[in-house]
Parts: sequence; structure tokens; C-alpha cells
Amino acid sequence: MKKLTLLVIICITFFNCNKNTKQGLITKQAMVVSAREEASKIGTSILKQGGNVFDAMIATDLALAVCYPYAGNIGGGGFMVYRLEDGSIGALDYREKAPKLATKNMYLDSLGNIIPDLSTKGGLAVGVPGTIAGLFEVHEKFGSLPIQDIMQPVIDLANRGFVVTKKDQAVLEDKREDFLKVNKNQILFTNKWVANDTIKQPNLAKTLEAIMLNGRDEFYKGQTAKKLASFIQANGGVITVEDLASYQAIWRKPITFEYDNLNIISMSPPSSGGICLAQILKQIEDFNLDEFGHNSLKSIQVITEAERRAYADRSFYLGDPDFVTIPHDQLLSDAYLKNRMANFSFDKATPSSTISHGKVDIIESDETTHYSIVDQFGNAIAVTTTLNSGYGSKLYSSELGFFFNNEMDDFSSKPGTPNVYGLIGAEANSILPEKRMLSSMTPTIVEKNDKLYMTLGTPGGSTIITSVLQTILNVHEYDMTMQEAVNAPRFHHQWLPDQIRMEPNSFSKDLVNQLQQKGYTITEKNADVIGKVDGILVLDNGQLEGGADKRGDDTAIGF
Ligand code: GLY
Repeated sequence: MKKLTLLVIICITFFNCNKNTKQGLITKQAMVVSAREEASKIGTSILKQGGNVFDAMIATDLALAVCYPYAGNIGGGGFMVYRLEDGSIGALDYREKAPKLATKNMYLDSLGNIIPDLSTKGGLAVGVPGTIAGLFEVHEKFGSLPIQDIMQPVIDLANRGFVVTKKDQAVLEDKREDFLKVNKNQILFTNKWVANDTIKQPNLAKTLEAIMLNGRDEFYKGQTAKKLASFIQANGGVITVEDLASYQAIWRKPITFEYDNLNIISMSPPSSGGICLAQILKQIEDFNLDEFGHNSLKSIQVITEAERRAYADRSFYLGDPDFVTIPHDQLLSDAYLKNRMANFSFDKATPSSTISHGKVDIIESDETTHYSIVDQFGNAIAVTTTLNSGYGSKLYSSELGFFFNNEMDDFSSKPGTPNVYGLIGAEANSILPEKRMLSSMTPTIVEKNDKLYMTLGTPGGSTIITSVLQTILNVHEYDMTMQEAVNAPRFHHQWLPDQIRMEPNSFSKDLVNQLQQKGYTITEKNADVIGKVDGILVLDNGQLEGGADKRGDDTAIGF
């Protein structure tokens, strides 16, 4: 909990002694922060034309589908949390869902064992995409510019091409073999692209143009729908035109809770993000993190132990709220959460084997992408969208020009067995026809004194929740700028496996030794980076500060 002493306040205010800080882009009115410069530019240009945050969302989202096919998509899904200038809030769920022909054991062999790769690669891994439904839902409810004005710059980008960065080159090289294995023929992305090449996508441009001209139904009921369903089926999947025709994006009530003097608004189920973030923050609220210090032994212990307990609950209780009853109020009650940390001690780690989901009374890559936008009218959104793994299922329709998600792996294929993120699920997240798979995506908006304070989120699979958590704490508890907060080294614990994953070369050996002595297992392997947070902070003078994560090609643009 925040406890600035008078001395610190005087020091900062009068002697300006804490000024070895690095701020991100500062603008007066509006800003877009996304994984790619081209997408942030297109989103900002929509705002400059007088469009609002929702118009900019549609343009940014589709631009990411063009220039960041690693995670940007029209073959996946996502979540959006919004806060309007008048303080009203809401959330949109355009998560993929299981096809009607999906079955609980569809990824198991006759002995009940998981068949490797079936839920992660190729046609059977694909969930019914939600992105186009989500974007048109947003346009219908909140859009202010004609869809042509919003989509044409994106179509132009697809025709003109985007420039390959060094990071693009590395991930394309890394996935090339998978592209070749999954697709029957060579695809655009199996070419040996190197940095500074330009990738043009005329077929994606054609698909986008058809959607622009014919609307949402082009994707869900029109020619695109027919081509999509037959392509997926020809590649071993079970999505039908009926699945597409019945897909709906759903407006949800976001999760809201207080932490210290902040009011936090985050994504509700089928994302676990909001509930998990709330559980962690409520468990640590009574500890003086600012006094312990950023990434200090004590801070890491407290945060880790709260994460461990929250992820244990996540694994058991959370799933699609349209299919399972989530004991939402009990999971978020103060009494329950204070009691959850009752057996925590600074002396030693609590082994995950001794932690299960808490008992509550119930009535019955890793890769994604996030962008944050604030417009010149004071509206804000946080959007996280995904294909699940990088390039999703790796299945690419050359005719339609896009990759398909492998979101089916976010279900528990076999309750008790980990998915690609090592997350273990239970019956609440088992596969059923038309059910949405549990997510960790955590698009989040923070208010302070009833005013917009921050909008943020990140990719990173199971590490999404803890990356959002640490970024909020970095600003609020540790007085960092937005840019410092997103750049700061991160760690992560998710109950099982029972280990603290740390970004390599970012924590001192001494600190790691001290944690190990207290019984924590530390891993730095396979942890090149944890998350790529993109956020916007509203400063005291009303200006905006962008935090574009240094870990990617992320860029803040605004005016
Ligand atoms: N596919 C990652 C997530 O939804 O959490």
C-alpha cells in the first residue's frame, strides 16, 4: 500500500531530487500506443480526422492484422475495456469460441492421452474467430466515422506493404519450419524475409475490401465465410459456415475494484485477467511495497505468494461465464482474500503443493498483442487481441491472406494437464461446443480520484496478468514514469509450475540467492522477455505519457 512519507513528498516537490527519470512520448490531447509504428500512425491519423477512440481502435486493430501478423489478426479474437469521458465504462468480449462439432476429448487419443500439437497447430486448433464481429460491434455502438474512412488506410497499407524489422525477421525464421509443416503449400511467410524487405499482402487487402464493402456479414455469412469454412475443413478442422453465422461478440460488465486510492477496471470472464488481477492486488494491499522497494526481496516474496494463490483459484474456478457459474463475489471478497494470505511468512516460500484453490461457497509467447488509446475527447480504451501462439495455428489461407488462431489450446484439453503456457485447468474450462476458452488477457483502465489515470495491457499468455500488475505497481507504488514502468524488469509466478520466472540478466545474483535460500525455485530459461506492455498515463497537468515497451517494436504516437 502506498505510504509516501512527508519527507519524500517535500523532497520530490521542492528539491526535485528524484528526477533521474525517463519519460515516454508526451502529448497534449491524444495517443495510440501499439506493437507497431504503422498501426499507431494509422490509429492517430483517424483521431486527427476527428474520429473517436473507437474509430481509432478499428483502424489500429486491422492495421496490426496487416503489419504484425504475429499476433494482430482477423483470424483470432480479443477483449476491449473502455472508459468514456463521462466516466461510464464497459467491456467487449470478441473471444473465439469452440466450433459446434468440438468435443470434450477431441485432443485425446483412445488411451486418454493428449495428442501432441493437435490443439496448437493446424485446422483443428482453430476457434471460431471473433475479431471482425468485435470491431463491427464497436463501430455500430460507438463509431463516428464511416467504416470506409477507417478501413481504407489499412487496405492501402496491405497493398503498399510493411517493412520487416529485425525482430520480425527473427520470429519469421523461428516459425518457418512450422509454416512448412502445417501448410500444404508454400505461403507468403515461408519466403526468407530479412529486415528492410517490404511484405505486400494483396489478398489480405482484397478480403478487407470485401469486408469494408459488405460489412460484418461478409466474414460470417458471405463469400469469405464460405471460403474460410471450406479451407479450415480441408486442413483437418471442424469449423462450419453455421459456426460463423452464429458467432456474436458480447458486451460484458467489466471487473471493477479498488486498490489503495485507485479504481481499477479490467476484463471479466471469459478472461481470468480482471479477477486474477483483483485477487493479487487485494492480497498485497496491506503490505508496504513502497517501503520494501521495487523488485526487493520482500516485494517479490509478497507478490509471488499472492500470485501463487490467485492462479490456483484461476485454475479451478474460471471459465466461460455463459457455461459455468463463477463464484465471482466470493473470490473477490475482502474476507476471503485476507484469509488467503494468512499462512504467508517472509521466512520461507509456501510450496504450491500445499496450496489449492481456496474453499468458497458456490451455489452450485505465448503471444498476443495489446494497444492503448486515449482520444482528444477524453475517452480511453485498452484492447488485447490474439491468435494465441505467434502466428496462431500457423495455418494460413493464401487466398484470404491471413493466419488462423490456435485458441482451442486455451481450453483444458485434459483437466490437470498443462497447456502451452503451463497453465493447468479444471472442468470449468473444459471443451464444449460454442464455449469460449478461458483467457489471461487483461486490458485494464485505472482511475485515480475518479478521473482517467492509466490505460494498459500486454501480450504474454499466462504472464499477462502479472505484467499488468507490476506496471500498475511501478507507477503507483514505486513512482516510475510510464516508460520506466513498462521497461522495468519483470518476474512471474503462476502457482504451477512452482517457480518464479525472471527476465534473464535483470535481477542480481545476490537477490536470486536470497530467494533460493527461502525455498523459491528461480528460472530464467526460456524467459527472453516477459510481456510487452503498452500503456498511457495521464499526468497531473492533464498531458499524456506513453509507455511503449522496449522489448518489442512498440511505438507511441499522438498529438
Ligand atoms: N491466448 C492467450 C490468452 O488468451 O490468454
